[in-house]
Amino acid sequence: MHLPGNYTTFFTIPETPLRIYHYQRVDSTNIRAEALARVGEPAWTVVWSDEQTAGRGRFQREWISPAGLGLWFSLILRPHLPLGKWNLINLFSALTVAEVLDEKFRLVGSGKTVRVKWPNDVYVGERKICGILLQSGRDAGGENFLIVGIGINVNQGQEHFPGELQDRATSLFRETGMYWELIPLLKEILEQFYREYGLEEERQFANLVARFEQKMVFRGEEVKIKLPDKVIEGKIVKLTEDGFLILQTDRGEQLITAGDVGILKEKGV
Ligand code: BTN
Repeated sequence: MHLPGNYTTFFTIPETPLRIYHYQRVDSTNIRAEALARVGEPAWTVVWSDEQTAGRGRFQREWISPAGLGLWFSLILRPHLPLGKWNLINLFSALTVAEVLDEKFRLVGSGKTVRVKWPNDVYVGERKICGILLQSGRDAGGENFLIVGIGINVNQGQEHFPGELQDRATSLFRETGMYWELIPLLKEILEQFYREYGLEEERQFANLVARFEQKMVFRGEEVKIKLPDKVIEGKIVKLTEDGFLILQTDRGEQLITAGDVGILKEKGV
């Protein structure tokens, strides 16, 4: 049995299989969760850390994760879904976080709405509040697993973001003017994730794409998409049933399976 190392606390969430290892500081919760999953740690184990010293974003970008100001955690899943459909969990994760945050904005009557950006970012207006990094792997017993790494900006003020992000990133605090306790928020997100995931898995995520499209920014708009080797421009037509993007370009419709979407205007995201 592999032990998860020098964690500070451990707790569970009643009536769910969720088990949370809480650390003060790690390199990246995704790295820790992946190491656990590789040696057989079951689904619904969570690695949560106050601080990450090497937080990672999509496309190898850095994810700034200062102590106690946000929620930085990674969840192990072992999905009962064909591998070709695992991309849907990107959409599902973003939608779940967006729904929980929407509830917070309703609570304080801010009138703000949370939107999702394909495939897995969560936005308030034109600013990003949450990023998600999925990593798949195979454990020692040959079983596939998925790590869902979620970073939510919670109590940062503008000054906590580096200059280039001050206009593009936001936090719950910036949007509501209130500080939020991390543990209740973490529990709420994990509980909702667990509940909704069970329902979605039963119907093989059949309704998810339509739900995502309703909350999606830039539908029908001209965008630019950064791919690893180039940037392409076009209009977002819709998503496929597996949650990939169809873009209308000069050269016809193109299927986009991964990329970074930004609006085609001076002040992009
Ligand atoms: C992105 O928007 O590029 C994805 C950011 C994902 C950040 C989270 S924070 C918890 C987990 N650990 C990491 O190193 N990354 C993810």
